[in-house]
Amino acid sequence: MPVILGIESSCDETSAAVCVDGEMRSNVIANQTIHEAYGGVVPELASRVHQQNIVPAVQQALTRANIRKEQVDAVAFTRGPGLLGSLLVGVSFAKAFALARQIPLIEVNHMQAHVLAHFIDEPKPAFPFLCLTVSGGHTQIVLVRDHFDMQVVGQTTDDAAGEALDKTSKILGLPYPGGPLIDKHARLGDPKAFQFPEPQIPGLDFSFSGLKTAILYFIRDHVALDPDFVGNNIDDICASVEHRIVTILLNKLKRAALQFNIKDIALAGGVSANSGLRQGLTELGQQLGWNTFIPKFQYCTDNAAMIAIAGYYKYLNGDFVGQEIAPLARMPF
Ligand code: KG4
Ligand code: ZN
Repeated sequence: MPVILGIESSCDETSAAVCVDGEMRSNVIANQTIHEAYGGVVPELASRVHQQNIVPAVQQALTRANIRKEQVDAVAFTRGPGLLGSLLVGVSFAKAFALARQIPLIEVNHMQAHVLAHFIDEPKPAFPFLCLTVSGGHTQIVLVRDHFDMQVVGQTTDDAAGEALDKTSKILGLPYPGGPLIDKHARLGDPKAFQFPEPQIPGLDFSFSGLKTAILYFIRDHVALDPDFVGNNIDDICASVEHRIVTILLNKLKRAALQFNIKDIALAGGVSANSGLRQGLTELGQQLGWNTFIPKFQYCTDNAAMIAIAGYYKYLNGDFVGQEIAPLARMPF
């Protein structure tokens, strides 16, 4: 009955979770609001806030799980990819905790963990399945053959989908983080009000930089004619941009499903919190006879529960690392 403490600090969320024999007992997430004033994550500030938050987050995760630190059997932590200074805080804490308690240390790849979030609750997808992993830094279609046998079969050649949403919100003058605000406005707007181009990228890869430029020029040209254009059309603009991003993602996912002849299709990463994408995948799945898997909101954006569940499966495999382990800003599967 292993008790796993999971630690996540790859970007601007400090999170700790406790998993007991594969069951998630707690998942504490401390958000960093300091970045709002800067319109994006400031790496140096993020690592300083992680230092302040890490001990209280772990203490709270243990308390909520009703577990004493002496009962923890292993510590799983995000090794990468992410901001190096942020990762360093979580990695150092995990190493110190494991050393003090003389328990095993488990490294976790953050992008694999987003996929493994599907193994926290029922229903769990069956192998092999395809997972569209969409976050602020990544856009990937992953072929998942087993818990740790994953292959990226398509990915973005430039910006990530979340980055496109965040940059659009910046162009529109909305505060950071933009994704959830675009979602909110989009619910009130007409997705067909404005047409944005769909990039023609071969195979299963994506591109979002051309779309970002198209949005920038569209806003610039309309504001030149009508200074109130954005204020008067914010809902329709957000709905139209979101609609285009969702169709780009789902068209490639459909192509991948046909190519690999797979009908178990999952969604993961921060952008999977988007209501338009969730609804779009559900509808497409019904149309094509897919079994679709959409994570609960608290497991979409960055969280330590996904690190703890990945750690649980690695614990069962006896897959541990030593104290010499260092974080990695870039970390392929
Ligand atoms: O996975 P995540 O929390 O962090 C990374 O690993 O990057 O993803 C963050 C991304 C941001 O781009 C954020 O704007 C986006 O997820 N996001 C959303 C929503 N909630 C978060 N995008 C659209 N709609 C949402 N509701
Ligand atoms: Zn993430």
